[in-house]
Amino acid sequence: LIEAVGAREILDSRGNPTVEVEVLLDDGVVARAAVPSGASTGAFEAYELRDGDKNRYGGKGVEKAVDAVIDVLGPAIEGFDATDQRLIDAEMIALDGTENKKKLGANAILGVSLAVAKASADSLNLPLFRYLGGPNAHTLPVPMLNVINGGAHADTSVDIQEFMILPIGAETFSEGLRWGVETYHALKALLHSKGLSTGLGDEGGFAPDLSGGRAALDLLVEAITSAGFTPGKDIALGLDVASTEFFDKGVYNFEKQQLSAAQLTDYFVGLVSDYPLVTIEDPLAEDDWEGYAHLTEQLGSRVQIVGDDLFVTNPKRLQQGIDQKVANSILVKVNQIGTLTETLDAVALAQRSGYTAILSHRSGETEDTTIADLAVATDAGQIKTGAPARSDRVAKYNQLLRIEEELGDAAVYAGRSAFPRFQG
Ligand code: PGA
Ligand code: ZN
Repeated sequence: LIEAVGAREILDSRGNPTVEVEVLLDDGVVARAAVPSGASTGAFEAYELRDGDKNRYGGKGVEKAVDAVIDVLGPAIEGFDATDQRLIDAEMIALDGTENKKKLGANAILGVSLAVAKASADSLNLPLFRYLGGPNAHTLPVPMLNVINGGAHADTSVDIQEFMILPIGAETFSEGLRWGVETYHALKALLHSKGLSTGLGDEGGFAPDLSGGRAALDLLVEAITSAGFTPGKDIALGLDVASTEFFDKGVYNFEKQQLSAAQLTDYFVGLVSDYPLVTIEDPLAEDDWEGYAHLTEQLGSRVQIVGDDLFVTNPKRLQQGIDQKVANSILVKVNQIGTLTETLDAVALAQRSGYTAILSHRSGETEDTTIADLAVATDAGQIKTGAPARSDRVAKYNQLLRIEEELGDAAVYAGRSAFPRFQG
């Protein structure tokens, strides 16, 4: 039974305040969860409550959210059985009473929701992935390693936000991670040799000033090859375009051009024929359903088309996408929706509708590793949690190494099978 719930303000990887919650059970178990925060956030995300007091952290303090946990959410769930996750989450949603968790804050609610799950797992002496996924949870995800950062995550003029490498040809998760690391280091040497910056962006990837998407993809192909791997066969490529960021009044202001959705779609069709791309996230803006339907028709049979700002981990928006044949995959971020229950509902809806699901971090992260366990628990087969560098990112990859070890011979690496549409 839940005996007490506490909260505090801590810092995230960008040096901004965020919420950490602790849940104490009557058997003495204490568990802790911390809440991440985005930079290129979708307009339809659940509400992140910040103090707005310019005298503290430039208005970004989260004392109000901390108070919401201590004064409202905690007292309301004390005495609940910690395994009653759905009941607890429903109680918190009802207490908030708004559509987007604006009253108490999704950051307050999520912290409690995740800490309850962790406390419950600890109390039952189960690893989190097994508590949430059951005895059959055994598939390690392909890491989508974001090795070149642009867009809102870097100070360069590169419009595409993320350039990722995916070690799909490895036999195990740990081997795939090693391939990714070796390529990351080869990329650093390559940038250095070309006189380009090896400074890092928000997610630990390099942030060189490049002429555009093709220049970045060329560098990745070269780095993969120089690390001794075969592009496409061993290591495939992925993009998060985050195109809502450069969409304005019906126009995509992309790489010094003003493009329509159809023109930008043609650009991606060109990229897909020239590079081993398995996944493209947010190729169009969060409300461009029509453009998205056309793009999905063009590319959806060959490439994973991922809705992040488009779906915001919201089962209702995902259902709209399924109905309108828009995208074929959902990016899953716990703080976009604000409870574990709704996150799991979004994943389940995706998976029974023929959509893939990708567990994801935010650009502002903490040492919390819950999403690593969630990726295994949901059998997602894919996780996006930044470069294989910086502790806020590698904390999740390290947790997956631990899970792989815990599973022993039962562990299976999703590898290529996570990308059924990829023909490269
Ligand atoms: P964000 O970026 O956390 O800044 O939103 C991650 C993403 O767009 O996938
Ligand atoms: Zn994204």
